[in-house]
Amino acid sequence: MRPHFVLGIWDGHDAGAALLREREVLFAVNEERLSRRKLDVGFPKHSILACLAFAGISPEHVRDIGVSTSDPAKTLTRIIPRLKEEYYLLRRRKKEPGRLTSFKKWAKYRLTELKPNAVSMGLSRFHLNRNLKAMGFSDYHLSLIDHHEGHAQAAARTSGFDDCAVLTLDGVGDGLSGSLWSYKEGALHPVKKMPARVSLGIFFEHVTNLMNMRELEDEGKVMALANYAYPIEDQQNPLMKLLEINGLNIISDYRSTGLYRELKKTLWRYPSEQFAYMAQRALEKNALSLVREACRITGMNKVALSGGVFSNIKLNMKIAELDEVERAFIFPHMGDGGLAVGSAMAVNESFINNHCYGLSDLYLGPGFSRNEIHEALEGRGLSFRPVEDVAGTAARLICEGEIVLWFQGRMEYGPRALGNRSILARPDDRQIKDQLNILQKKRVWYQPFCPSILYEDLPLLVHTDGREDVDDNRFMTTAFRVKEKNLKLMEGVINIDGTCRPHIVRDENPRFRDLLLEVKARLGKGILLNTSFNIHGEPLVCSPDDALDMFERTGINYLFIEDIIVEK
Ligand SMILES: [Fe+2]
Repeated sequence: MRPHFVLGIWDGHDAGAALLREREVLFAVNEERLSRRKLDVGFPKHSILACLAFAGISPEHVRDIGVSTSDPAKTLTRIIPRLKEEYYLLRRRKKEPGRLTSFKKWAKYRLTELKPNAVSMGLSRFHLNRNLKAMGFSDYHLSLIDHHEGHAQAAARTSGFDDCAVLTLDGVGDGLSGSLWSYKEGALHPVKKMPARVSLGIFFEHVTNLMNMRELEDEGKVMALANYAYPIEDQQNPLMKLLEINGLNIISDYRSTGLYRELKKTLWRYPSEQFAYMAQRALEKNALSLVREACRITGMNKVALSGGVFSNIKLNMKIAELDEVERAFIFPHMGDGGLAVGSAMAVNESFINNHCYGLSDLYLGPGFSRNEIHEALEGRGLSFRPVEDVAGTAARLICEGEIVLWFQGRMEYGPRALGNRSILARPDDRQIKDQLNILQKKRVWYQPFCPSILYEDLPLLVHTDGREDVDDNRFMTTAFRVKEKNLKLMEGVINIDGTCRPHIVRDENPRFRDLLLEVKARLGKGILLNTSFNIHGEPLVCSPDDALDMFERTGINYLFIEDIIVEK
């Protein structure tokens, strides 16, 4: 019998596609990696084709397709893609706001508060079918999956928990800014929906925009800058008055654009880092209240979390430290970019009841053959040769103070580089860190780097007490407090507040593990500075050509592609 394939699609911010085969996530990728357009918002044609190519199937083999979100705002952008494009350019600061921008923004936010209805769902279906048929899909069933259910499915079904509370919090989708579910014996039951009128995600999005950063992209910079402010009591924080939590309700006197105006007034009175600090505190306080309440209402102390708000790793650390929370799992592609996986899982539920997906690694993207790698290398005039001891050679160079580009196997799914498309360096050198940040990656000075750490060395380096199972945080989704005696060893990978966000390495990536073991033999601990293989503002490299293009544009001297070393 032919295997049953389910295709998941997300065609909004950070569009992408995912393919499930029976009980397994076979392949998942975001459009930006293939189109080379950061956080691409278009219909993810390249991603869909990549899914099919990986499985060696054609469109007629796919009988079930799940697409997320069918509210009026999303539907309108399916009918008029130009609207999506215009917002994309504004948000990414590629286009200056025009005279009508404020009005358009107001209209957009009001429209996104509306839930899906029969008309929007019918029109979404029509336009999606048109795109799918143009790609050759013919005999299939299309399911429209609720935005927050997509987030919740992904978190619950990859959490590894038998039962848990599932909380989603984001900007807005299908008329909601959050939702609570209980997950029992593999089934997901809705508990509460939080209307989009007030949204923690939009609150932080506004803060990001007001600081001249790119909303839906630079929220992590706001969080990083907050570390440079002087602390103040919550009672003195004017942003605390803008939002409050009552039970599972997010309450505010201000709707989206009204909230923006209030924030703008506050920013005028404070330096940026202080404003960032106050916003981070307000986000933490409110989100922590919601998590506590989620545990109380469901009677559960394990939580699975998804939605863009949980890209905030400082918040995630505080969630994991709550007395009410025994274990916390954050879906590693927590933003809308992860919706293709969640949508496919929601569809698959009707074929495979109560199924969980083991997520031992996130190497779900494209990989490249030896021939493809050689084709990319030929004709560039670069010096390259195979090396026998890849891990040992790379470890030696890194420990001598070199920055190394590292390209191996299949590309990571989600925002983090986890040892297959990484830039690697010593963890203990502030100068290397600054050089990498400003000269090579072109990031701002206050953005910290993260470490990859051998699983067995983690308790030696950071405080893990009170964390039932650090494996829940293996994908760089949460921060840990660094033990004081290791501050020197981790100087290049530590935040100013003494925390770090580790990638925890077990056996899922043997070559990367070998590299860490080689580093351990030289530095005493299995730890590396690991940052994504890209220049800031560009997508993670995907193909050997992308990797070589970036290698040629930077001052970095060494690139490892599989077992080949390329040198300048
Ligand atoms: Fe979302």
